[in-house]
This record gives sequence, structure tokens and C-alpha cells, in this order.
Amino acid sequence: PRRIGILTGGGDSPGLNAVIRAVAKSLMQDAGAEVVGFVDGFAGMIERQSRALAYRDVSGILTLGGTILGTSNKANPFAYHARGNADVSAQVVAYVRDELKLDAVVAIGGDGTMSMAHRMHQLGIPMVGVPKTIDNDLMYTDRTFGFDTAVAIATDAMDRLHTTAQSHHRVMILETMGRYAGWIALYAGVAGGADIILIPEFEYEIEEIARICRERQQGGQRFTLICVAEGAKAKGGELAVRQVVADSPDPLRLGGVCNVLEHHLSQRVGSEVRTAILGHVQRGGTPTAFDRTLATAFGAYAAALVADEQYGRMAATQQGRLTSVAIADVANRQRTVAPDAPMVATAMAVGSSFGVPGM
Ligand code: F6P
Repeated sequence: PRRIGILTGGGDSPGLNAVIRAVAKSLMQDAGAEVVGFVDGFAGMIERQSRALAYRDVSGILTLGGTILGTSNKANPFAYHARGNADVSAQVVAYVRDELKLDAVVAIGGDGTMSMAHRMHQLGIPMVGVPKTIDNDLMYTDRTFGFDTAVAIATDAMDRLHTTAQSHHRVMILETMGRYAGWIALYAGVAGGADIILIPEFEYEIEEIARICRERQQGGQRFTLICVAEGAKAKGGELAVRQVVADSPDPLRLGGVCNVLEHHLSQRVGSEVRTAILGHVQRGGTPTAFDRTLATAFGAYAAALVADEQYGRMAATQQGRLTSVAIADVANRQRTVAPDAPMVATAMAVGSSFGVPGM
């Protein structure tokens, strides 16, 4: 029988286990393949840690958060941090091809994992990719699994902040994850009715944000909800952070962009300002039904790519249809929110501001 490896790389994302289950079950059932799981992503490939997966290992894991295989967001076969950044890819190839005798490896991960998968593929290990990240920022796929769950969690937080903001007539700021992209903040901002949405793709002007908060107060809307992506930047952002550090009475509270915002807004609006950083809560726990179905569809599709020996490809969804794209095209690139993205227009149509004058 054919022997197929599987690994989960980078930060975890709700739905990883659903993909592992779908890939393994499809390959075992349809192709009679043997499936081998690498422990902790590429770390397992390098440190020779893997185990054969039996059908029962991948049964009953559909709803579980995290990954039963473990993951690592540091281990890179081409510059391995634990061995002085040495290139250990030749040993990895020998382990995967000659010792484990794998015919192909399915790598579930984001742009970093796809970059390593691409290079392994170039070294002769047939690879298939599955797009994972709560950030939704992979190229050439409309969706990644985990994003829907992160948005649902962030929206629940927005709803809860809404009622307390209303009661206290406060400005409430929720900071979401997303790294260099604003997808989570944009979607949670629309779903949670944010008055202001701040994302990395639009630089914001603090005076404009403060003006919106004051105008709402004066107009009788005595609270403001702000949803800010962790990567959002003020014009002259770096300077602003340094200023906060210098001024802060409690440097321990300095964390994310929301603390910078809180500092500046509380000096400019009449009301109190409070912040909440959602952090890794957005990545934990059970996936939504949407993410379970997307992850399962991606997994089954990836297994079909393996069965058809369509290597060097990553499963993707484009305009509602499953397809595949070249891993090479996805490696080390990010898909950020375009200024003309439909959801930006939707947000603006219902009065959410991006804090950019004239928008
Ligand atoms: O890429 C997923 C993500 O959760 C980002 O949204 C965030 O910036 C980053 O990973 C956090 O990384 P870590 O888990 O290493 O703190």
C-alpha cells in the first residue's frame, strides 16, 4: 500500500483535527493507504518523530480544537533554530523518503508552512497543502479554515462589550488577532456592529477617531464600540507607541495597539475608555459548523489530490468551488484586505468608520 505522511505546521487553528480526520479516513478507505503523522509539524520531520495513525486515532476528533499531532511555528528544515540555524533538509529527505518510505506528505498550514512545503517538494518529496489560518490571509483561496470560528468568538466578545459600553457610556475597544491582515477585525466588526473598525490596510488618524467618539456622545449615542486588528497602524504609529511608553503610569498594561489607542483617546474624549485583548481565545476550542465542513472538504480534496498524484498543489476554495493552486504561488505571501473589498463597502454602508478622513 501507499504510505502518506501528514503534518500540522504553524499556529493552531480550529478545524485542524477535522482536516487530519478527513485526509486520513479518505486515504485509508478509498486508497487503502497507510498514514503516518509527524509530531509537532516540521519539528517531527527533523527530529525523526512520527507515528503510524490507525483509523481509531482519527475517529472522534472532528469537534476537537488544537491538533492531535501537535505543531510548532519555529522548526524550519532549511534553517533549524535548535541547531544553530543549520540546513538539515538533506537528513529530512533521507528520513522521509528512505526510512519512512513515504510516497507523499500532506502539510496543513499557513504561508510559512507552504513555503517549507514548496522547498521540500523541490527536493523531491511530493507535497500536497491544505490552507490553515485564523487570519484568512492565504493567497488564492477565498477562505482558510479557522477564520469563521475566530470571527464567531470575536463577535461574541463584541456583543458582550456592547452592553457594558452602553451601560457605562464608555468607549470600548476590542483588539483581535490577524497579524498583517484585517480580516478578523473587519468581519467581527461588521457582525458586532462596530462604530469604528481599524485594520492594517487603512492607516488611522487618532484625531479623526476621537472626533467620531465625541460626535456620537454629543448626538446622544453615549458609547462607541471600536474593533481594532492587532496590526492596525496610526499615521506616525511608532512615535505614538513610544510616547505612550514614556507617559504610561503603568507600563505593564502596555500590550497591544488597543492600549495605545486607549491612551490617546482617553485624553481626547470626555468619556472613559476601556480595552480588551482577545488573544489566543480566538484560536482555541471547538470549530464552528462552517469550519468543520470547510476543513472536512479541504481534507477530502487533499486526499483526492494525493490519490491522483497531483503534487505541489494546495487545496483552495474560489467562488464557492473547491479547486487547487500551486503551493509555490502561495508560499510566503499574504492576502490582505483590498480597499475595494465588498465587506469594506458593506461596513461603510451601515456607518462603520475606518477612521480615515474622507472614507
Ligand atoms: O497567524 C495566527 C496568529 O494567531 C496571528 O493572528 C497572531 O498574530 C499570531 O498567530 C500569534 O502567534 P503566537 O501564537 O506565536 O503568539
